[in-house]
Amino acid sequence: MRLPFSLILLALTSLTTAQGDASAAPSLQASDTSTISAALDPSFAGLGIEPSNLYSFTGGAQANQLSINLLQNLADYAGAPPHLRIGGNTQDYMIYDSSYTNFNVENTADPTGQGDSDIFTIGPGYFEALDRFPQGTPITYGLNLAYSLTDWNTRIVDTATAAVTKLSNVKLVSFEIGNEPDLYHENNIRDVSYAGPQYTSEWLARADQVWTKVLQPAGIPSKFFEPAATASTDGTTFDINSLIKFGITAGSDNADTFVFGWNQHDYYYFTGVTNYGLTIDHMLQLQTTEDQFAYWTTQVDAANKSSLPYYLREMSSAGPTGLQNISDSFAGALWTLNFFCYAASIGIASVEMHMTDNSYASPWQPININNQSPHVRPNYYAFAAVAQLIGSGNGTSQIAKLPLTSVTSAYTAYVKAYSYYRQGQLAGFVLINGKTSNTTDTSKSMNFSLSLPNNFANQKLWLQYMSSTGASATSGVTWNGVSFEQTDDGTPQTVKTTTDTLDIGSDGKVTVSVPDSQAIVATINFGLGGVNTAIKKSDALARSQGSVVLICISIVMSFWVCDWII
Ligand SMILES: *[C@@H]1O[C@H](CO)[C@@H](O)[C@H](O)[C@H]1NC(C)=O
Ligand SMILES: *[C@@H]1O[C@H](CO)[C@@H](O)[C@H](O)[C@H]1NC(C)=O
Ligand SMILES: *[C@@H]1O[C@H](CO)[C@@H](O)[C@H](O)[C@H]1NC(C)=O
Ligand SMILES: *[C@@H]1O[C@H](CO)[C@@H](O)[C@H](O)[C@H]1NC(C)=O
Ligand SMILES: *[C@@H]1O[C@H](CO)[C@@H](O)[C@H](O)[C@H]1NC(C)=O
Repeated sequence: MRLPFSLILLALTSLTTAQGDASAAPSLQASDTSTISAALDPSFAGLGIEPSNLYSFTGGAQANQLSINLLQNLADYAGAPPHLRIGGNTQDYMIYDSSYTNFNVENTADPTGQGDSDIFTIGPGYFEALDRFPQGTPITYGLNLAYSLTDWNTRIVDTATAAVTKLSNVKLVSFEIGNEPDLYHENNIRDVSYAGPQYTSEWLARADQVWTKVLQPAGIPSKFFEPAATASTDGTTFDINSLIKFGITAGSDNADTFVFGWNQHDYYYFTGVTNYGLTIDHMLQLQTTEDQFAYWTTQVDAANKSSLPYYLREMSSAGPTGLQNISDSFAGALWTLNFFCYAASIGIASVEMHMTDNSYASPWQPININNQSPHVRPNYYAFAAVAQLIGSGNGTSQIAKLPLTSVTSAYTAYVKAYSYYRQGQLAGFVLINGKTSNTTDTSKSMNFSLSLPNNFANQKLWLQYMSSTGASATSGVTWNGVSFEQTDDGTPQTVKTTTDTLDIGSDGKVTVSVPDSQAIVATINFGLGGVNTAIKKSDALARSQGSVVLICISIVMSFWVCDWII
């Protein structure tokens, strides 16, 4: 049998080129992009801690220095610590007892509440431990709504009072009231008739108690509460528009309105709920993330119409506790980097990746568990990347989707690109090649051909890599030449001191080659490092006459960023 010549050619081509191409023409001005984030808060790429596990992360009598250092690194890069939500199922199991002095979550002696609503007791040590986290860490604290015996009001007021009075180093910014109330009937917390209207009325009653008895006396505004919008998609009466219809944003009798922002939860994959088995390759088809998120974008739009921010306060690649060798692989880092950029680009105001002490998806493991000692996981590097990117704009960073054209079909599902804007103007790119490769093989790559506006002709693109030895690697990652795994306490160690650059052509064209299972953050005329690196590097260009200058930049948060400029 004779094969048509074109088929033979096709077969030969696919054998010899394991490469892909894509093109993009980013706009110069943020205002010319179709969808773009608002200026991102430096705390945008946040974390959540399951309340029953708080002490694993903070330490008990003794501080957990690994957690503290890892959070401080992100604060140094972004200009403020990541947002932290203390919330989850177990917030609805907790009772505060001011006389309980141990640093642990204690089983309540005689629980009498509905469901599990008072099985755990915490005391002042809980807030003392939380207050060890970096100065100014914005905290959303989850209050117990499930507990509904006659003394519910004193219980919730006691907890709120402890949070307001005892947190002084970190910064309490909002209260969530109740975790995932649309699932209360499944958890035997309420009966099967419990729906949006009942939740709205209970939520308002609790917000009113905390406002009048705790916040108002402390001079804190009433818009301090986050309603838990739906955690499920089926026939829910907890979606944002329904809660608005039931009056949650209308406020109480005295016309004080309480809503600080919407508190939404989602997981890309959830064991026992998602109807397929997750693999690294599926996760790296980054398009599947957008497909999974389709319903939630309707909620993002509803939040926008309500003129209130949409916070994705509980999110993860895999819930409830991640998947070993998937969530904790380098693929998890690529997925996380993409998710933060995607979420920003569609208008989500902050994302909190959920942590339990035994989750393979948590960016670090804080204690000995699962036969492993404490360690940093690959996806922590994605937090570092996003923190450096956002920090470099010092309050003006915006991320937009960068539409790709002429993408080699074998790569279509696996590649995503974003453009980065600072002070309203194009300043860089996030280029992610998710095509699965379990080895370092630069002959397999995606070439992103970028046609930049003429303003950038003959200038330089700085390349910051997020890389490892392959998608399935569970250690040995670097971001921007830094490793967090060389030390036991999470302090960064520079393992590569130089930053690669590419010349932008006189026609504005430049091609960035991103190996399979790697990501590159490319920045125009500056390199990433910390807050306002823009100024650092433009100084570098101005002064690059062979002299050595120590440039220190004072940051609002009372630390200094210094860099030797040669
Ligand atoms: C709603 O979306 C518009 C357009 O993207 C944006 O400018 C505005 O800040 C958003 N509002 C809120 C509350 O997120
Ligand atoms: C993960 O990989 C390790 C090392 O190869 C192996 O021992 C372990 O059984 C794997 N776990 C799962 C759930 O596949
Ligand atoms: C960053 O922005 C803040 C607020 O606009 C400003 O006060 C500060 O000077 C800026 N920092 C640097 C290093 O430019
Ligand atoms: C990479 O490794 C993972 C986990 O061992 C495996 O499932 C996958 O098939 C491998 N992919 C490739 C392209 O070799
Ligand atoms: C991708 O770019 C590299 C470096 O510029 C080049 O050597 C290679 O030929 C390009 N590959 C394709 C498929 O265009």
